[in-house]
Amino acid sequence: MTQMTKHNSDVPATDTVGEQAQPVVQLRNVVKRFRRADGSVANAIDGVSIDVMPGEFLVLLGPSGCGKTTLLRTIAGLELADEGEIDVHGTTVLSVPRKIELPPEKRHLSMIFQSYALWPHLTVFDNVAYPLRSRGRRLPKSEIAAKVNRVLDLVGVENLGGQYPGQMSGGQQQRVALARALVDGGNLVLFDEPLSNVDAKVRETLRRELLEMQRTLGFAAVYVTHDQNEAMELAHRVAVMGGGKVRQLGPPADIYSHPVDRYVANFIGTTNEIPATVRAIDGNRVEIDTPAGQALGVAADTHLTPGDAVIACFRPEYGQVQNAEKAANNVWSGIVERVLFLGQTSETIMRLGGTDQYLRLTSLGEPEHGEGDEITITIPEHRLRIMRAEGEKAQ
Ligand SMILES: Nc1ncnc2c1ncn2[C@@H]1O[C@H](COP(=O)(O)OP(=O)(O)OP(=O)(O)O)[C@@H](O)[C@H]1O
Ligand SMILES: [Mg+2]
Repeated sequence: MTQMTKHNSDVPATDTVGEQAQPVVQLRNVVKRFRRADGSVANAIDGVSIDVMPGEFLVLLGPSGCGKTTLLRTIAGLELADEGEIDVHGTTVLSVPRKIELPPEKRHLSMIFQSYALWPHLTVFDNVAYPLRSRGRRLPKSEIAAKVNRVLDLVGVENLGGQYPGQMSGGQQQRVALARALVDGGNLVLFDEPLSNVDAKVRETLRRELLEMQRTLGFAAVYVTHDQNEAMELAHRVAVMGGGKVRQLGPPADIYSHPVDRYVANFIGTTNEIPATVRAIDGNRVEIDTPAGQALGVAADTHLTPGDAVIACFRPEYGQVQNAEKAANNVWSGIVERVLFLGQTSETIMRLGGTDQYLRLTSLGEPEHGEGDEITITIPEHRLRIMRAEGEKAQ
């Protein structure tokens, strides 16, 4: 099996002369509605605009029914959008206003489905050769063989051409599926939850291999999942979707540390929420009143005004116990209700003093406090994000 060591973790955003590279996929205000059996209308995609750059791994992440598959199928040409435009490799493949609609086979992209959908009765060679033979083209046998062998070599399964998919490991099947997606020279692959049928341990291995291959081979990927770990690990950028809209688009670390609203904060990772009211605002610095006293945080929402009902959010790992009393602000005390020792980390559930608010804290190793102890914590000001209370939470 070929070892791939050359990593390319940055998205190449510019070409060699330093000009802005052209997006591989450009979605402009795409809308797709479905009429349900009961006559009601589902806004499956509700005005989505995204640019996918060459070599970029973009993940569409969101709960069931938020429109991920529909968006992918709309890019592929398997669904016809009601509004908007889509360019692929600089060619308009869909434009509702200009009445352009190219069929899937003219869009120069490939799709990889759940469990890879390899043909069990065809050898690896024939599986990979399939796209070259199917589109009514008559390529010479030698050219097909050259293309198939080249791409099998590229993904590191050059000696498996004669095998059947049933005789291979999950990792090998994934490589063959990628080979089939890349054989026709396309460098855009769409994935719809390819790993969702695989058990957890194997899934982790396959994910690493996919990451390795995408970064090395450099094709652009649009990858659908509802698994946030998968999204965080694979993506250059994540589009968090909800109700057919993109709620936030950015690098995983940015989405995790700077969620724009409660929906994103609760969908990615775990978050503590303390209800509060805005006292004063100075730039993006917000002074709030909470049931446990005043606090300072940063505004996630630019349109806050004094008196607004807000939620102060922070990640469990940002609640510090050591030397908390000495902090200048955001010092809170409470009673430890529960300590869960998880090996590498511990979870502390604390009831915030004078409230019925429970906070979750994560720390490395075993904590020094036990159940029933009174502890004091502090949250660094830049880790306390103040967002509108009315934003709904993700499931
Ligand atoms: N053919 C269809 N007819 C009617 N409604 C549909 C159809 N396909 C999808 N929908 C609706 O559109 C919305 C988006 O569906 P979609 O399959 O894109 O969600 P998803 O994010 O891929 O969910 P999952 O994670 O469960 O696969 C849902 O409300 C769904 O019920
Ligand atoms: Mg889906």
